[in-house]
Amino acid sequence: MEKVIRVLKEFNGSYVSGEILAKLSGITRAGIWKQINQLRQMGYEIDSSSRKGYRLLKTPDLHPFEIIEGLNTRQFGRKIFFQAEVDSTNRWAKRLAAEGAAEGSLVSAETQTQGRGRLGRSWASAPGKGLWFSVILRPRINAAELAGMTILTAVSMAQAINKVTGVQALIKWPNDLVYNGRKMAGILAEVNGEVDMVNYLIIGLGLNVNHKEDDFPQELRGIATSLNIIKGSESSRRQILQEFLRIFEKKYYSLSTAGLKDIITYAKIYSATLGKMVRINQGYDRTLIGEAVDLDCDGSLWLKEPSGEMVCVYAGEIMENTETKGEKGDG
Ligand code: BTN
Repeated sequence: MEKVIRVLKEFNGSYVSGEILAKLSGITRAGIWKQINQLRQMGYEIDSSSRKGYRLLKTPDLHPFEIIEGLNTRQFGRKIFFQAEVDSTNRWAKRLAAEGAAEGSLVSAETQTQGRGRLGRSWASAPGKGLWFSVILRPRINAAELAGMTILTAVSMAQAINKVTGVQALIKWPNDLVYNGRKMAGILAEVNGEVDMVNYLIIGLGLNVNHKEDDFPQELRGIATSLNIIKGSESSRRQILQEFLRIFEKKYYSLSTAGLKDIITYAKIYSATLGKMVRINQGYDRTLIGEAVDLDCDGSLWLKEPSGEMVCVYAGEIMENTETKGEKGDG
């Protein structure tokens, strides 16, 4: 099918006869008809005329053929598992990783019926509006280094969004992207392994791209945002994903030599959290309150408690920002 698509693209929206299409793609005329129908089912809009032949009108943004084309990576996204609808890309990625899928495999869908958020919440994944994907990693790190992996992911996505759309998202520790206090992206990292050895790590990322306000469920309106709401125009999900994979791969493979230094510097500059009074939910009914003072070199957060004591927090979820010194928090 890739050959048929390639030939149709070479004709740049003009008609190509069935005979020439068959010849250039090395397929029989009957085969062409079959493949054109399959491509239509995958979201390719192909016009056909008995006199003139076929012409490509529109390509689906996220089909694996389209993602691979122009992808500037060595390994990340080179193997793509894609379905129009899945329960959760993280759940699917875990199954694939357990079966031995290669590091860097991308698991993506147009929509999720049971998209999962952190702390057991659900994640709304409107069809065709956002990026809902997971990357399978097999990092040679221990459990203490996992916090750094989610910050690396958040920074890579913030940089990719900025490069493609010009929008500068802020990083709400440890791994949400926000804009004007509203959530744009979330990361769900799930690990399989032992305390000092990771078998596989699934990095799941949801980014709201082309949603209008009413594409969000009622309870998220005013809380969640999308690039479309911010910019007033649609963005290419494919370009953002390709750019993310490129940046993410580069940072990931240089971790062992460069460490997290530049990543933490970026996360501090574009932080939605530092300098604010925060309430951190650590699960199991544990809550910490204090001023978010600094990020440590491993991505953990230094919190100054009301008693003045400094606490290092490795994981958790900022539930709300309470009042800062004379200012209201919003992240
Ligand atoms: C959060 O902020 O709570 C994390 C949200 C993570 C959502 C993504 S969408 C793709 C991947 N598959 C899932 O089921 N969840 C993650």
